[in-house]
Amino acid sequence: MHKIEIINLHVSIEEKEILKGVNLVVNSGEIHALMGPNGNGKSTLLMAIMGHPKYEITKGDILLDGQSILEMSVDERSKAGLFLAMQNPQTIPGVSNLEFLKYAFNSHSDEKHKLKDIIQDIRTNANQLDFDLNMLKRFVNDGFSGGEKKKNEILQLKMLNPIFSLIDEIDSGLDVDALEIVSKNLNSIDLTKQGLLIVSHYDRFFKQVKPTHAHVIINGKIIKSGGIELVDKINKEGYNWAKEVNA
Ligand SMILES: Nc1ncnc2c1ncn2[C@@H]1O[C@H](COP(=O)(O)OP(=O)(O)OP(=O)(O)O)[C@@H](O)[C@H]1O
Ligand SMILES: [Mg+2]
Repeated sequence: MHKIEIINLHVSIEEKEILKGVNLVVNSGEIHALMGPNGNGKSTLLMAIMGHPKYEITKGDILLDGQSILEMSVDERSKAGLFLAMQNPQTIPGVSNLEFLKYAFNSHSDEKHKLKDIIQDIRTNANQLDFDLNMLKRFVNDGFSGGEKKKNEILQLKMLNPIFSLIDEIDSGLDVDALEIVSKNLNSIDLTKQGLLIVSHYDRFFKQVKPTHAHVIINGKIIKSGGIELVDKINKEGYNWAKEVNA
């Protein structure tokens, strides 16, 4: 059983306060939906948890299994079991997807594997995502379509087997069939060992990957938490009611 605790988190970007006291606990076995209008701090929260240096934590703490991770670098957080599937995945020209997956996999493992030792695993995971194997030889995300980049994030997730995955709008850019495939892959995660924090704007996605908890973030604060009924409410009514709660 693992736990990540976000305690009164305040985060600024270039001196501007974006998160204004976020409290959130995610345990392994749970799928948390994080929803909220554009520009209200969802990606900021995920980036801050992962340790992006641009996101300055001015107050509060993030505990992983009771230990603060604030002093840990991004790669240390990754090795400790955190994973971020980014809203806008980065391109890495010059590094092939296969090499990248090998290095990432090895940096999370005590042994150093050769590509031939893990290629079958990579292939199996790519096949489960209906991810064209030719994409593995290309540079990371270089020229990938929007949907291909999103599938590539999930391929990394599957290879690294994290404890907590932070998944930012994985559904944006996916066609209907790809959405179903990615959902199936997320649903195959062994939740007895892992927890998910998923940002999406759409109940269509949360109908396929069913959250155990849901939260609404407005103006840098979680103003309402509940279950899947909160996702339904947002689908039907939008956010005006939530903005009033926050006013
Ligand atoms: N470098 C920056 N300088 C100033 N403001 C920034 C910077 N980066 C992000 N912001 C602002 O921080 C706020 C929160 O952004 P964030 O990306 O967390 O929103 P979001 O809730 O994920 O929105 P979306 O649903 O559109 O993805 C936005 O107003 C954004 O413009
Ligand atoms: Mg965002």
